[in-house]
Amino acid sequence: MFQRFRRTRLNTHLRSLVRETHLSVNDFIYPLFVRSGEAIKTEVESMPGVFQMSIDEVLKECVKLKNLNIYSIILFGIPDTKDSIGSDSLCEHGIIASCIREIKNMHPDMFVVTDLCFCEYTDHGHCGIIDVENETVNNDATLEISAQQAIIHAKAGADMIAPSGMMDGIIATLREALDANGFENLPIMAYSTKFSSAYYGPFRDVAESTPSFGDRASYQMDPANRREAISESISDEAQGADILMVKPALAYLDIVREIKDNTSLPMAVYNVSGEYAMLKLAGKHNLIDYDRVVMETMISFKRAGADIIISYHAKEVAKMLKK
Ligand code: PBG
Ligand code: ZN
Repeated sequence: MFQRFRRTRLNTHLRSLVRETHLSVNDFIYPLFVRSGEAIKTEVESMPGVFQMSIDEVLKECVKLKNLNIYSIILFGIPDTKDSIGSDSLCEHGIIASCIREIKNMHPDMFVVTDLCFCEYTDHGHCGIIDVENETVNNDATLEISAQQAIIHAKAGADMIAPSGMMDGIIATLREALDANGFENLPIMAYSTKFSSAYYGPFRDVAESTPSFGDRASYQMDPANRREAISESISDEAQGADILMVKPALAYLDIVREIKDNTSLPMAVYNVSGEYAMLKLAGKHNLIDYDRVVMETMISFKRAGADIIISYHAKEVAKMLKK
């Protein structure tokens, strides 16, 4: 039997017909950092192109995003005052609740996801209530105030809640609280597999959330642990999460693929601040072809199994996809 070993060379058209992985502007959620005040738009030194904005600037930004066909955002708040329990995040007049209301008022077609955590709102910078005796986060006390924060976000008009603190039992707790308050159809995107990572460095600059003592290793995951990483996402699926997430993205694509193959929920990756900063800096110094490296990186997330990409590159990608 004749066997031909040479492959037919495909032309550009046919290559695009048989391409296995596709990137769309609809895959993206764009992070926004909001603080109080007016006409404030301060660029973050470690993340060129990323800004802390006051609410009026966020509203203007939504117009620009929509022009690029980006309709999904995730909000992070920088409160005026921080205290031991993050009171700003538990109050309907806090920075995030106010911002959600104004966005939904002006731009009801924007899909507003809220990061639900305490590290940006506490004076100690940890993701929950601290036990003074042993200086660690008290898991169950944090669950209680997390449920309160979820209801604040929900009442303000959030379209999806994304708890990022990695407390045990958080998904079940939030699902129960949302259901009991009439928000049965408000989805939860779990930061289900979140590693204790040095890639979050620049984010902590922009969110002003570096812990004042210790680190987050007691509640975030050890990068060395594969089985634990997968079981965390499986547990959140069982607790009622609607979307799972792996964070950071680039150094954990093996984990993305394994979770994808072992669960049946849609998956997000968080292409975090440190990953963004590395490409920005390398691009600035002409060490890489920035645009091509960004696109190659985004495709790698989709190929690994991500359905959703949370990325500071979203606007740039949208512009490149338009071309
Ligand atoms: C809050 C939170 C963090 C990020 C998203 N939500 C920081 C952290 O856990 O320290 C990081 C995002 C990024 O680095 O871009 N818990
Ligand atoms: Zn946190």
